[in-house]
Amino acid sequence: MKGLKIIGMGRSVPSQCITNDQLSTWMDTSDEWISSRTGIRQRYFCTPEESCSTLALEAARSALASAGLSADDLGLIVTATFTADYRTPSVACQVQQGLQMNHPVPCFDLNAACSGFVYALETARCLLAGGNAGRYALVIGAECLSRILNQQDRGTFVLFGDGAAAAVVELSDSPYACVWGAKGEVEQLNAPSLVPEQPGVLSMDGRAVFRFAVDALPRCLQELCQQSGTTLEQLNQIVCHQANSRIIDHVVKKLGANPAQFYKNMDRYGNTSAASIPLALSELWEQGAFPAGSQVACVGFGAGLTWGGCLLTF
Ligand code: UT7
Repeated sequence: MKGLKIIGMGRSVPSQCITNDQLSTWMDTSDEWISSRTGIRQRYFCTPEESCSTLALEAARSALASAGLSADDLGLIVTATFTADYRTPSVACQVQQGLQMNHPVPCFDLNAACSGFVYALETARCLLAGGNAGRYALVIGAECLSRILNQQDRGTFVLFGDGAAAAVVELSDSPYACVWGAKGEVEQLNAPSLVPEQPGVLSMDGRAVFRFAVDALPRCLQELCQQSGTTLEQLNQIVCHQANSRIIDHVVKKLGANPAQFYKNMDRYGNTSAASIPLALSELWEQGAFPAGSQVACVGFGAGLTWGGCLLTF
């Protein structure tokens, strides 16, 4: 099986940063509650001029620059999101337009909620391997969750943030593994359609999702290791979906793993759904945390309920 190699990354967040203390002036909450229960200290919310597609485009430009490629080198654009500007066209098509690409390539969005970036990577890998999507794919995770949050619900409003990150990828012969799945349970976490008569507000049974996450993430990591003949200890970095610091702590404990392998940045961004894993990867990328040969596992979970993990070798 052909693997996947990331050759460039970029990210973008809105201009407006909202701290926990600011939120506590809007609703009955506190920095103490939010940070001790979740590890989140601030998040970014789009201004009226910003949106899922503006963030995605900025992240895409920066990923292409980091890869040293131009838009016309791309053969495919896939965006993972469930908060696109329009029902149609897709954010991927908006990015294509913004990049002023001179040739036609397949562009589409996919929705696997917070597992979306892993789904998008695997989708891109399969399409590149199929031989009908050029050499390089642009894979984006982008969300504007602030537009679908219910300010009357402190149990969800304080958790989420907006952001985008993108990766330029190509096929590789290095070891690779992927696990992905869904189990068709929609009650625990959902966001109704964005139609005027029915404002789209996200609702979640936090405890049920927490229980699902601390089961799904260790299972994904173990399956990735089995598939690739790797041990957890051999992984240089483990990037979990950044929903809650306590979820990652549970995963570490359950696996008897080394906490230093598990990257965390939800303190600065909150839960950005499909953007969360690539935001973390792009920070690590910028820090030079992926020397040649390093192995990185990405694992996510989200509405659906969905899960997805992949093991990348750099
Ligand atoms: O990417 C999507 C995936 N989503 C997730 O991963 C979320 C997973 N779940 C969680 O992270 C946690 O369940 C939450 C952070 C959402 C909630 O933490 P919890 O420890 O499960 O709290 P809880 O919902 O059981 O609420 C405990 C208390 C309640 O008060 P009472 O009933 O004990 O008096 C809530 O009303 O905390 C209260 N509460 C708050 N208090 C201050 C809930 N939200 C807030 C808030 N500020 N923002």
